[in-house]
Amino acid sequence: MRAKIVAGNWKMNKTISESTTLVNELIEALDGVELVNTEVIVAPTFVNLQACQLLAEKSPISIAAQNMHQKLSGAFTGEISAPMLLDIGVKHVILGHSERREYFGESDALLAEKVKTALDSKLVPIFCFGEVLEERKSGKHFEVVSEQITTALFDLDKESWKDIILAYEPVWAIGTGETASPEQAQEIHAHVRQLIADKYDADMADEVSILYGGSVKPANAKEIFSQTDVDGGLIGGAALKADDFTAIVKAI
Ligand code: PGA
Repeated sequence: MRAKIVAGNWKMNKTISESTTLVNELIEALDGVELVNTEVIVAPTFVNLQACQLLAEKSPISIAAQNMHQKLSGAFTGEISAPMLLDIGVKHVILGHSERREYFGESDALLAEKVKTALDSKLVPIFCFGEVLEERKSGKHFEVVSEQITTALFDLDKESWKDIILAYEPVWAIGTGETASPEQAQEIHAHVRQLIADKYDADMADEVSILYGGSVKPANAKEIFSQTDVDGGLIGGAALKADDFTAIVKAI
């Protein structure tokens, strides 16, 4: 049975004291909550990773990085590598978030390299994909997500897919307060699962967790998570408050 996952992307928010406070609040809030087949992940910024990791180590919360360089080491000023993340106990890394694509020019070809490096290093990539508003309006959304998945992920062997989490994040719904309807999320998730089934096989595709991200809040989480092919969420704004994030975890 594929895992259910609620992941919080904290983006460029929170100082170290704020981050550690939030981790502690989440540990306390989730104490005693039964998490059946459910993973809870949060992604603080790089400088706060280790402190959060140390706090979360013995809790049900996993700490993820928000990005990573494709090379293992070298002259890449300002970058962070997979071995550095692993060495502090981080096991997940968000790759291809639309903000990385838009503001830092990350292409699917580059993301293919990053995903491969993450997997070779035994980090679990949370691979984000999704269309922008113009693409949705012109009816190209299926085509766009197919292209993203194919270019970034279809050179991988079948075995690698055991360790990949996907996150469909329609760009027009990120931080805008506008959420894809549960039906809009479901049809893209089902489409992606079918794409994977056609390329590899149906049993394998059935095991891949596909999260939805884009203005998920306590008020809409349950309905989105109830869709057959939606296996959880990647949460931005609502992950910054312990109450809201906990409510979303409980909605899974
Ligand atoms: P949002 O962000 O929940 O604030 O829309 C989601 C994301 O960017 O991962």
